[in-house]
Amino acid sequence: MTAAVADPRLSGRTVKRIAFDEQEIAARVAELGTEITAAYPDGELLVLGLLKGSFIFLSDLVRKINRPIQVDFLVAASYGDAMVSSGSVRLLYDPETMLEGKHILLVEDIVDSGKTLNKLMALLEARHPSSLEICALLHKRIADELQYETKFVGFDAPHEFLVGYGLDHAENFRHLPYIASLQ
Ligand code: PRP
Repeated sequence: MTAAVADPRLSGRTVKRIAFDEQEIAARVAELGTEITAAYPDGELLVLGLLKGSFIFLSDLVRKINRPIQVDFLVAASYGDAMVSSGSVRLLYDPETMLEGKHILLVEDIVDSGKTLNKLMALLEARHPSSLEICALLHKRIADELQYETKFVGFDAPHEFLVGYGLDHAENFRHLPYIASLQ
């Protein structure tokens, strides 16, 4: 992959490697939209984006889902590594839409350790949706503790610190249209 040269969005940092460029991402997101459309032939589907990392992925993905959906968001408070029990997550923003009886698709930018999903999935299951699945753009495949299958995965992610397309480093670089590792 070619490195971006003198990208003014990088505040002086240099791209080491572009892991996924804009075209690759767009093509895969369109495929995911088609897969998701086919997977839900009926019923109400609520697509729930976990903020903040999923905001760009979610906005592109929902425009590739060719059936009625509702869209809402989750904002979760992180308690760090010490709090691992499934009841320990607290929602800073709770979806206003009813979850009970609906198909819920939880959208994540990246599955790393899987801790975030273990907590959130348990919390969402308790609301009695008719189904509950995960869609992640990136999956590092290192989440040995993850108790839930990730039904829809965009790409297996390299084991590097990635930024762009929603992923940040100290809140920077979320707006890059590609996914890259930095020097
Ligand atoms: C990141 C990412 C995932 C989570 C994955 O969120 O967006 O939600 O970590 O890590 P895990 O699988 O090890 O739990 P972060 O807490 O950085 O917040 P952000 O979405 O606001 O960037």
